[in-house]
Amino acid sequence: MLLIPEHHKNKYGIKLLGAVQISGESFFVYKNKDGEISLRTGQEEKIQKNILKNMIKLNPRILRLLSKYRIKPNINTRTLKELTGGHMNDTCKIAMGIYSLLASNLKSGIDEKSIKEASMLHDLGKVLIPSKVLNKPAKLSVKERKIMNIHSTISYELLKTQDINTDTLDLVKYHHQNLKHSGYPKLRSAEHISDIGVQIISTADKYSALREARVYRRKLSRIESLLILYKEVLEGKIHKDVYRALFDYVQKYDKAA
Ligand SMILES: [Fe+2]
Ligand SMILES: [Fe+2]
Repeated sequence: MLLIPEHHKNKYGIKLLGAVQISGESFFVYKNKDGEISLRTGQEEKIQKNILKNMIKLNPRILRLLSKYRIKPNINTRTLKELTGGHMNDTCKIAMGIYSLLASNLKSGIDEKSIKEASMLHDLGKVLIPSKVLNKPAKLSVKERKIMNIHSTISYELLKTQDINTDTLDLVKYHHQNLKHSGYPKLRSAEHISDIGVQIISTADKYSALREARVYRRKLSRIESLLILYKEVLEGKIHKDVYRALFDYVQKYDKAA
């Protein structure tokens, strides 16, 4: 769990060790100043919200970006809960699985730590996307789609002022980019991204999302999810070796219905 960066831990006098799920509820594992371990649910939300507010304050581009789309800078607690409760950890687990199963020549130069951090933090910007867009039980309008699509840029802008390396930041920013570079945000000609790094995060993210229920659709099965992503291999959007690694990971570790 990385939502509380190191320097914030001291500011609040606690150390966050991680998160666990018990009976569907997320608990954060803390160590206090006296070294006592505790599980809490309520307080961490307040702390995380304060940290996010601080991140917004540190980067004026965020407010400018939000006002361009007429979005109020309100932190969506439900989204924060959903992210920390499942999607962040699931995407991370899958991304690390793909990384470990990929041939070493393909992943040379890709830092394992960046994959871990980026897969955890990629959707952080969603906490500022209005709920009526994020949880709309129908197809998004063109304007709503534009709003939805800025979440990866917001994630990047929120994290840019934190102690996070450039590789991680790029993976976060481009986690909706594909092999054909027809995703978002658009790549400027001078920009260079690690295609395989982005592929690891984006493929893990897509599989993780398909395996979760959404307001507009049910949770998809392993086979349904793999078929949807295979179509993207055929369309040239997903690298075939990254897909193969995902396929092997799913065969081995995804035992859920
Ligand atoms: Fe995303
Ligand atoms: Fe995601």
